[in-house]
Amino acid sequence: MPLLETRGLCKQFGGLQAVKDVNLRVEAGEIVGIIGPNGAGKSTLFNTICGVYRPSSGEIWFAGRPIHGLRPNRIARLGIGRTFQASRPFQQLSLEANVLSAYGARFHGGWRAMWGRAFTPQHRERARALLELVGLAEHAQTEARHLSLGLQRRLEIARALALEPRLLMLDEPAAGISHEEGQQLMALIRKLRDKGTTVLLIEHNMQMVMNLCDRIEVLNYGVQIAAGTPGDIARHPDVIEAYLGKEVAGA
Ligand SMILES: Nc1ncnc2c1ncn2[C@@H]1O[C@H](COP(=O)(O)OP(=O)(O)OP(=O)(O)O)[C@@H](O)[C@H]1O
Ligand SMILES: [Mg+2]
Repeated sequence: MPLLETRGLCKQFGGLQAVKDVNLRVEAGEIVGIIGPNGAGKSTLFNTICGVYRPSSGEIWFAGRPIHGLRPNRIARLGIGRTFQASRPFQQLSLEANVLSAYGARFHGGWRAMWGRAFTPQHRERARALLELVGLAEHAQTEARHLSLGLQRRLEIARALALEPRLLMLDEPAAGISHEEGQQLMALIRKLRDKGTTVLLIEHNMQMVMNLCDRIEVLNYGVQIAAGTPGDIARHPDVIEAYLGKEVAGA
């Protein structure tokens, strides 16, 4: 049984078919990449899986149960953590407070509910452990705005890990960060997988996708046009035409 499976998943915005009949399978322990040109429907696919959008049709199964139609908080509590494209942590909060705020979903269904609530020492300990895991422990009391973009992305990952997800979905985690920060991000994603987290990754950084992913799915105009290992994808003529260009084709 795959950890995540979509069956004939569609999402329409008015007359626009942003996601069209997508059948995705992610096995536990995999790192699966989703690539495709701008506007291909990658983020819409994520948002539909996570319950931000209701599917127009089709099914989504996670760990053997249907999750389509459930609310985002419920899906998060069932074990899917995610980061949003171009999202930033709360700039005026310390890193520790940023991670603590991510526990909100576990209680009342929203981070706002957390402000009046005292955190237990166990929460703080767990938040510290997550910051340690992503390599930010020494900055726990620093406000997020003092971090580089690359480190803010790691903080977003720590927040996504707060509810101990089995599946972590990352939407362009490397966008705008330096090469070195990208290398560190790759090491972090590998480490998370080795600790048992399954990863679904949207990324335009081909070096990262090709090095990190066990399998890659390619979307174009909302449709899956190819799937396979990084090697298969780099050689696939439709992919080269739609997305990769001659540069990767010749590599
Ligand atoms: N909330 C929305 N309402 C209407 N149209 C939308 C909405 N969200 C996305 N779209 C459209 O759906 C299509 C797919 O967009 P989406 O953001 O999923 O693409 P993407 O593959 O993530 O692109 P990028 O690589 O630029 O992030 C686009 O044509 C976009 O304009
Ligand atoms: Mg996107």
